Amino acid sequence: MVRFRGRLHDARTATVLGRWLGLAVVVCFFTGLVSHLLQEPPGWLAPRLPSRPVWGYRLTQGLHVATGVAAVPLLLVKLWAVYPALFQWPPVRSARHALERASVGVLVATALLETVLGLANIAQWYPWPFSFRRTHWALAWVLLGATLLHVAVKAPDIARHWRRRRVDPDAADRRSLLRGVGAAVGVLTVVTAGQSVPALRPLTLLAPRRPDASTQGVPVNRTAAQAGVGRIAVAGWRLVVAGPEGYALTLHELRELPQHTERLPIACVEGWSASAEWTGVRLRDLLDRAGAPAAARVRVVSSQRRGAYRTTEMGPTYTRDGLTLLALRLNGEELSPDHGFPARIIAPNRPGVLQTKWVSRIEVVAR
Ligand code: HEM
Repeated sequence: MVRFRGRLHDARTATVLGRWLGLAVVVCFFTGLVSHLLQEPPGWLAPRLPSRPVWGYRLTQGLHVATGVAAVPLLLVKLWAVYPALFQWPPVRSARHALERASVGVLVATALLETVLGLANIAQWYPWPFSFRRTHWALAWVLLGATLLHVAVKAPDIARHWRRRRVDPDAADRRSLLRGVGAAVGVLTVVTAGQSVPALRPLTLLAPRRPDASTQGVPVNRTAAQAGVGRIAVAGWRLVVAGPEGYALTLHELRELPQHTERLPIACVEGWSASAEWTGVRLRDLLDRAGAPAAARVRVVSSQRRGAYRTTEMGPTYTRDGLTLLALRLNGEELSPDHGFPARIIAPNRPGVLQTKWVSRIEVVAR
C-alpha cells in the first residue's frame, strides 16, 4: 500500500482548484461550440448566423484559447492535489466503485488530451494522422460529460468543502499554493493574450503569432506558396460571378466599381486576431448585379490548389451585410500574394479560415 503524507492532497484544495478548472472547462466548451457552429452550422442555422457584433468571433475565440492555456497549470495542480486518490488500495471495492474509477480515467485522459491537442494546434503542429477539428470537437463533449459526472459524484465532498473551515491547520499553505497557481495563470495569460489584445502586445512572449510582426499588419496562416497559388497574371484574371444574370470582370473593371473601406478584425481559430482597414467592393453589390435573390446562399471559390477551405459558403446575413467586402486592398496597399491577391473575402464575425483568399468565382447557390 502506498502512503502519502504530503499536505494539501485534500478535498478542500481539490474543491477550490476544481471551481477554477470547472469554469475553464465550461468557458472553453461554449466558446468552442460557437466556433464549431460558425464553421459547420446545421442547415436551419446557416442562414441565421449573426454577422454582429463585428468583433464577436475575435472575443469568443480569443477567450477560448486564453482559457485553454490557463487550464494547463490548473489541470496539472489539480491532478497533483488528487493523485493519492488514484493509488488507493484496494483499487476496486465494488462494481459501482469500478464504474466511478473508470469515469475518472476518462475524465483525466480527455482533459489531458484535449489541452495537449489544443496547444499543438495553436503551434500548428499536427503530428497525428486524424483530423484535429473532429477529434477536438468529439473530445469536448466527452470532457464536458465526464466533468459533470465527476461533479455529481463528488457533490457531497464539494458541498462540504465549498466554504472555508474556521479551524484549518493547512489554510496558510493552501493560500500559498493557490496564490502560486493564480500567479502562474496570470503570467501565462498576460504573455499569450497579446496575440488578440493590442494593449498586451509588448508582453507577448509565448504566443505563436504576433499580429504586429507580419506583412501588411495582419498575420498569414497559409501563404500563397503553401496554397499552391502561383503568380496570378492580371491580364488573364477574371472574377466570375455565377447567378441568374452572371458576368465576369477583369481586375481593372473591379477596381472601377464603387469601393468601400471598412475596419474589420480578422480572427483565427488559433486565437490570434488583428484589426485592419480593408478596401474593396461590397459583396451585395456584386450579387445584386448578378440578379441574386436577397435570401440566396453564396459559394466562394478560391484558386488555391492545396489545403482545406478552397470553397466556403455564406448565408444572407453575411452576403447582405454592407460590411462584407470582396477586398482588393489591405491597410492602404494592394493585397500582397500571401493575403490573397487579387481579391479576398472579409466579413464581420466570421472565423478567419472562412475569409477566402485568391477568390476567382462567386456562385449564387440557392434561395
Ligand atoms: C477537467 C476537470 C477535472 C479533472 C481532470 C479532475 C480530476 C480529478 C481526479 C483525478 C480526482 C481524484 C479521483 C477520485 O477522487 O476519485 C478528483 C477528485 C476531486 N475533484 Fe476533480 N477534476 C476536475 C474537475 C473538478 C471540478 C469542476 C470540481 C468541483 C468544483 C472538482 C472537485 C473534486 C473533488 C472535491 C475531489 C475529491 C478530492 C478528495 O477527496 O480529496 N473536480 N478530481
